[in-house]
Amino acid sequence: MRVTIIGAGYVGLTTGACLSELGHDVICVDIDKERIARLKAGVFPFREAGLDEIMIRNMACRRLRFSDHLASAVRGRDIVMVAVGTPKGVRGEADLAFVRQAAQSFAPFLSPRTVVTLKSTVAVGTAREVREIIAEERGALDFWVTSNPEFLREGSAVSDFLTPDRIVIGADDRDAGERLIKLYRPLLDRGVPLVETGTADAELIKYAANAFLALKIGFTNDVADLCEVTEGDINSVAKGIGLDPRIGTAFLKPGPGYGGSCFPKDTEAFAWIGRALNAPQPLIEALIARNDYRKRHIAERVLKEIAGISGAQVAVLGAAFKANTDDVRESAALQIVPALQKANVGVKMFDPWASGNAAPLLPSATWAEDPYDAAQGADLLLILTEWEMFRSLDPARLAEALRRPVVFDCRNLFDPEQMALYGFRYVSLGRANVPRERRWRSNPLPNNRQKAASPST
Ligand code: UDX
Repeated sequence: MRVTIIGAGYVGLTTGACLSELGHDVICVDIDKERIARLKAGVFPFREAGLDEIMIRNMACRRLRFSDHLASAVRGRDIVMVAVGTPKGVRGEADLAFVRQAAQSFAPFLSPRTVVTLKSTVAVGTAREVREIIAEERGALDFWVTSNPEFLREGSAVSDFLTPDRIVIGADDRDAGERLIKLYRPLLDRGVPLVETGTADAELIKYAANAFLALKIGFTNDVADLCEVTEGDINSVAKGIGLDPRIGTAFLKPGPGYGGSCFPKDTEAFAWIGRALNAPQPLIEALIARNDYRKRHIAERVLKEIAGISGAQVAVLGAAFKANTDDVRESAALQIVPALQKANVGVKMFDPWASGNAAPLLPSATWAEDPYDAAQGADLLLILTEWEMFRSLDPARLAEALRRPVVFDCRNLFDPEQMALYGFRYVSLGRANVPRERRWRSNPLPNNRQKAASPST
């Protein structure tokens, strides 16, 4: 099929490249002429595992092309897919300005019976609004507007696209839905489940999915806090609850609060939709506040660890919001590092990929060559991102580099007992930071036990 993608950003490019890999003829369009020129020259704007390979292969056989000429890219296509940004608006809503602008600008060139589909994450009702925008421009033209949300994770977007859990197609018209089914036929034939629904449901599915996943993380973080004060272990608790298939084991890892380009923005937009439509979402409202608190609270805990040290230095490992990406949007580092610096703590950082993106946003931090360089002379080592290379750091070398052997690990990369053997004060999340044998002997709930025992005595 002939597909044009409007917006050559993260979602647009990944989707375009993967659709070309499925055999479709794809043109990615962007108003940023420079970006298009670079893409044509094979210079890709971000890192994503496996994407370069697919792009190069499909560009070579011209199944994947780039253009800044909207008219020729939109005329005579089967599908025009909108993948422009929907940043956070002033009240937390998804700002639809780019979606509306895109619709207005390509409407004059739409051919009859083209299916427009919204890939961008948009408020419920946007497909219908875009229909009106195009209808205003084109009057009697026969066209459709559909919704086809993406569920791509950064770092595994290519495999998420090519082996998805499900494909959601929102169409208010059967013919339009059929066109999208044809687009995804190669995946559907491999047995990928299809959810066919109306446009409003498809729009809601995207938000509800992200809000629910974020809730799992927020809940896990709260349970982790409880584990810490009961000398428990969040890993055991997560396993114990997650093996119930109704709960599931994924997304039960504690951390410094969720970040990235989706969860923070989408939870806020979901809460806004609830407020705007008078169907409040108090769970999500609480989650948003709780996630923000989580990041502030980690900073407070770190400051407590180094209280009283004048000219304290902290080594921060990890600026990306998660491993395997150079994306720092809403990352824990962007909130925690400034909070430390505000308390006059010097910060030296290291991230294997994200330092280039983080450095301009954290101008007072200094940047290290490697993790040991970051640790050199620091009073505490703070781990914020779960990079595999951090997991394999040599504790002996770290202990040697640090001025004080304190590690505050927000990703639980090390074994607390091992770290104790190396002489570290090791703080991780949701785990008793004492050796196991002492854990068995300790009585985490003395008062409750006494109360429970009293009636029979
Ligand atoms: C997410 C969704 O997974 C994806 O379906 C959607 O399309 C876009 O948003 P992404 O933002 O790439 O993808 O990252 P994800 O891997 O989901 O992690 C999001 C955040 O949650 C990260 O900050 C991560 O560190 C945190 N997280 C994730 C946890 O703290 N604990 C977990 O168990 C899982």
